[in-house]
Amino acid sequence: MAAIRLQKLISRAGLASRRQAEKWIEAGAVLVNGKPAQLGDRADLAVDQVEVNGQLLSVAEEKVTVLLNKPRGYVSTLNDPENRRLVIDLVDDIPQRLFPIGRLDYNTEGLLLLTNDGELAQKISHPSQHVDKTYLVKVRGGLSPEMIKKLEHGMTLDDGKTAPAKVKIVRRVGLNCWFELTIHEGKNRQVRRMCESLGLSVVRLKRIRLGFLDLHGVDTGKYRFLDNQEIARLKR
Ligand code: URA
Repeated sequence: MAAIRLQKLISRAGLASRRQAEKWIEAGAVLVNGKPAQLGDRADLAVDQVEVNGQLLSVAEEKVTVLLNKPRGYVSTLNDPENRRLVIDLVDDIPQRLFPIGRLDYNTEGLLLLTNDGELAQKISHPSQHVDKTYLVKVRGGLSPEMIKKLEHGMTLDDGKTAPAKVKIVRRVGLNCWFELTIHEGKNRQVRRMCESLGLSVVRLKRIRLGFLDLHGVDTGKYRFLDNQEIARLKR
């Protein structure tokens, strides 16, 4: 990972706010490779030794959360008995051990958060949080008004009733229909099963939004770091 400003590094490690970290730097309480740091200095924990108030920062302590645009053909688990490609391989240039928050199926694309911040993962995944997840779905055939009603009112799957969802038709192309489906639950393969129970076959599935986050500026297979404000908003 590239060198980043010390105050950012310290706040990511959860030791203090950036402002407090700046005060420590100005007070000479932050050493980089044994020398007092100046405001504006950068460091990379993979190669530099950073000491804050006498405490050595380790790479593992730094909390990191990234937004990945997952391609099709990757599994979201940390290992795979079938030896398929793993989403964590797409972030293997990051020294921390990240894990995905929730899952996307092997053939589902789109927005997936990866983190080493257990508190954040719990917050987002907890059903009481009702974080909206929007999927762009391409199905074979059309979506009738009755089907839309069922999706919007909630439908019964084999593990219970789904909460009301939001549906927005995006376009119809030939025999296919693209629509956006917003849900806040995280049942296993929920979107595919909702479509299957309507007799619709899913051709493509992409998560395009998670709460206030979207895929803007992140190409397929690439990631970006969430900033402190985004993390704070997610934790709220
Ligand atoms: N719903 C699904 O069916 N699959 C996913 O990957 C995510 C939501």
